[in-house]
Parts: sequence; C-alpha cells; structure tokens
Amino acid sequence: MAARPRIRALLGGALAAGVAVIGAMAMIPDANAAASTLGAAAAQSGRYFGTAIAASRLGDSAYTTIAAREFNMVTAENEMKPDATEPQRGQFNFSSGDQIYNWATQRGMKVRGHTLAWHSQQPSWWGGISGSSLRQAMIDHINGVMAHYKGKLAYWDVVNEAYNEDGSRRNSNLQQTGNDWIEVAFRTARNADPSVKLCYNDYNIENWSYAKTQGVYRMIQDFKSRGVPIDCVGLQTHFTGGSSLPSNFQTTLSSFAALGVDVALTEVDVTNASTTQYAGLTQACMNVSRCVGITVWGVRDQDSWRSSENPLLFSGSNKKAAYTSVLNALNAAGPTTSPTGGGTQSPTPTTSPTSGGGGGAGRIVGAQSGRCVDVPNASQTNGTRVQLYDCNGQSNQQWTYTSSKQLQIYGSRCLDAAGSGNGAAVQIYSCNGQTNQQWNVNSNGTITGVQSGRCLDVWGTGNGQQIQIYDCNGQANQRFSLS
Ligand code: G3I
Repeated sequence: MAARPRIRALLGGALAAGVAVIGAMAMIPDANAAASTLGAAAAQSGRYFGTAIAASRLGDSAYTTIAAREFNMVTAENEMKPDATEPQRGQFNFSSGDQIYNWATQRGMKVRGHTLAWHSQQPSWWGGISGSSLRQAMIDHINGVMAHYKGKLAYWDVVNEAYNEDGSRRNSNLQQTGNDWIEVAFRTARNADPSVKLCYNDYNIENWSYAKTQGVYRMIQDFKSRGVPIDCVGLQTHFTGGSSLPSNFQTTLSSFAALGVDVALTEVDVTNASTTQYAGLTQACMNVSRCVGITVWGVRDQDSWRSSENPLLFSGSNKKAAYTSVLNALNAAGPTTSPTGGGTQSPTPTTSPTSGGGGGAGRIVGAQSGRCVDVPNASQTNGTRVQLYDCNGQSNQQWTYTSSKQLQIYGSRCLDAAGSGNGAAVQIYSCNGQTNQQWNVNSNGTITGVQSGRCLDVWGTGNGQQIQIYDCNGQANQRFSLS
C-alpha cells in the first residue's frame, strides 16, 4: 500500500492532521498532555490556531518550517482578495490563492478565505463603475471566487471592514450601491457554497463599549432576526498602532456568540508582543465556547505588515515570550470549553460519539481530495457504495456520528463495510447495530472500522472515486475531517 505512487507520504509529526468536531460533539481529553505546538495545543479544546501566509514567502524554508510545525489553519494574507482574484472583469486568477491553499491542505491544515467584498484592495476596474453595475460586479465576484473554492474552505470572510469607528456604515463605493449590499453579499455567498461558514470580519470591535462594536453587533442581531445567512464574526484583534486588549474582550466575544454565531480572532498582532495581552486575548477565546480559533497575522516579526512593532510570536526562528504565554493558555483550556465547530484535534484523543445521536450532521471531507463522502444520486438503496464528490451541503453528504459509533445518514441508513478485508466496499445500509457499521473517528484523521480495524481509504481524489477499507498506512488518502 505504501508503494502506491499516487499517495503523498506524510511529512512527519508536524502534520497534525485534523478531525473537526461535529456539532456539539465532545472530545475525550488527554488530560496530562501539554501540547508543544500552537495548533496541537488549540486542538485539545477543539479549536484551531492559524496564521496569515503570504505566497511570496513560501520559498523561504525558515518561514515554512515554523508555519508547517505550529499552525493548523491558514489565511491568505492578500492572495484571495478581490484585486488578486479578479484583476479584470470576469477574468479570474487563482494562481497565488491556490498556491497557499495547496501548501496548507497538503499539510493537513484548513483554510480561511479572505476576503470577498471590501472597500480596500479592490480591482482597479471597480473604481470605474458604481451603482447597479458595481453591485452586479460584487455579486459576480462572489460567485466566481466561491465557485472556485467551493467545498474546500472552512470559513469565508464575506464582508470586511464595513463600519466606521462611530458605529455607522463606512461610506465606501460598495455602501453607495445601497444599504443592503452586505446582506446581498451574504445571501449570494450562501447560495454559491452552502458548505462554508460565512463571516463578517472587522477591526476595533474588541471593546464591548465601543461604538463600532455596537454597530456591528446590531447588524449581526438584525441579520439573525431576519434570517440573513451569517455564521461567524471575525474580530481582527490588531492590538497594534495604539490599540490594546480591552478588559471586556471576553464580554464582547460571548455577546456576539449569544446571537448564535461563532466568533474567532482572525488577524492577531500586538505591539511588542506583550505577553499579558497575548495571554489575555487567548484566555478570552478559551473562555467562550463558540470562540472557534485564533489566527495571528503573520509568522515572524519580519513578516508582519507592522514589522517595526515586532508584534508576532516569532523573532526569526526563535519563539518569543509571548509564544509561551499563548501556548500555556491554550494548554490550560479544558475540554469543556470545546467550541461547536471549525477546530482540529491533536493526534492522541479520539472523538467521542454524540449522546443519543443528537449531534449535528456534518460532512466528511477527504484530506487529500478536499471532497466529501457522498451517496451517489442521493440514493437510499441498501448497498449503494459511497464515493468522493465536490462538497455541496446536501443531505446525501450529511453524516451524524451517533453514540453507538455509527455514521448515520438520512436518519435511517448507516455507513456499512461490505466485508472486512482490504478493498472491501463501503456502502450505505439500513442501520442494524452490527460492528461492520461501527466506526472509530480518530484524531489523527483516520476513520477505522470496528469490525475490521481497517481504515476508510480512497484510491484517488476525483469526483466519483469509491471509498473502501484498507490497512491503515498513515497517508493522506486515509485522512478525513468531520465538520
Ligand atoms: O506586492 C507588491 C509589490 O510588488 C510592490 O513592490 C509593493 C510596493 O508597495 O507592494 C506590494 O504589495 C503590498 C502587499 O501588501 C504585499 O506586501 C501592498 O502594497 C500593500 O498595500 C499590501 O498590504 C496589505 C494590506 O492588508 C492592504 O490593505 C498587507 O500585506 C496585509 O497584511 C493587510 O492585511 C489587512 C487585512 O487584509 C484586513 N485587515 C487589516 C490587515 C492589516 O492592514
């Protein structure tokens, strides 16, 4: 099996493969283990720890060594923004964005899309249009970019920085197309890719008593009350350029979360990497169950957009004191603070089933392919073999991990091994409680059959590739994430 040429070998322990938590699924904690990287430490409570990555630095091995070791979520710093992805109307360019996407996913990391609609870093041709023409250009842009990354990303920052400091809307060219531009962007995004979580992202919204925070809060509240699709709020958390950690940061996070959205710290940097501020912002996230993860805005100080403030966790290849303060806060977080989704786990513990099968349904995404485990043509016929297919959020890709270790679909069918030997087919069948329908979802990304002890495995990466069981070999074609 290891000799199969199509399989990319694992690159060692740095590749902390992820198994995302399904719905409200709890995890079995590895209580005595203090993880030694940021990603693994965050994963202990079901969260992620990410970084912004610049495509131009991927040739720098000192940079990539740290990034591959420490993080399990990646945001493209500039490469998925409108100016990069649609430089001319209708002509999309994903070369740099894909470079980052491929680098990250080849290492088992997830990717956050940033950003679709923003007043800054617009393509120059947006400057020459306005009104309904610009509105249509925004919609077409969202559709074009999201189609390319459909089913592949964990989050999208759909709209970025749309508010003024006083809590009013920023008077951008997008705002001038009509006050409903933000909800139109979110509705367009949901239709374009129902599988990805849709976020609003902004800076200076960390202080609960600040007018801008309240303005954004009211928008999210309004969206939730009217059914405008929105899943998350990104608090950029730039404690640089004069701003600093507010004492009520946790209140802000929990207040947003109480509206029914996930929250995340999306672009963290802190002037001179204050250890107390880094520890405090990390702790605030750990204390809020729906705070799903933290992303720092660059790897080393020299990579920062504000490098003169030395605001990041690494100086050259050296871990700074702030790194240790963050790592300790992540390691101290108990498993009871597990968020509801978007996280990855460390290799040791296994994911425990939801009690009574009441957990949310989620997709099973192949680490090598980025595609979902899918029942062809939404068939409910016993014996239908499951395959890989582009993730589409539909019911034939929605699996629930039950308390009896079944991976259930349509409420009545279970993922079923048609045998226990290498190459045995994996199909759907009426749930019957037998061990060929029981699966261990392991935090190294594998899913093993209780009867066979073998791993879910797929020979290729394309649409229609059939799933089988095979001897576990640690390779990417046997790693899946449940999200
Ligand atoms: O790549 C060109 C280079 O060819 C050229 O010679 C050079 C000349 O100035 O510019 C280079 O592009 C720069 C690019 O970063 C890549 O380094 C742009 O000028 C510069 O404007 C751009 O800055 C980015 C900034 O967003 C633009 O608004 C920063 O890298 C990026 O870190 C920053 O990220 C933003 C988030 O997207 C949103 N939140 C705030 C955050 C910090 O400003």
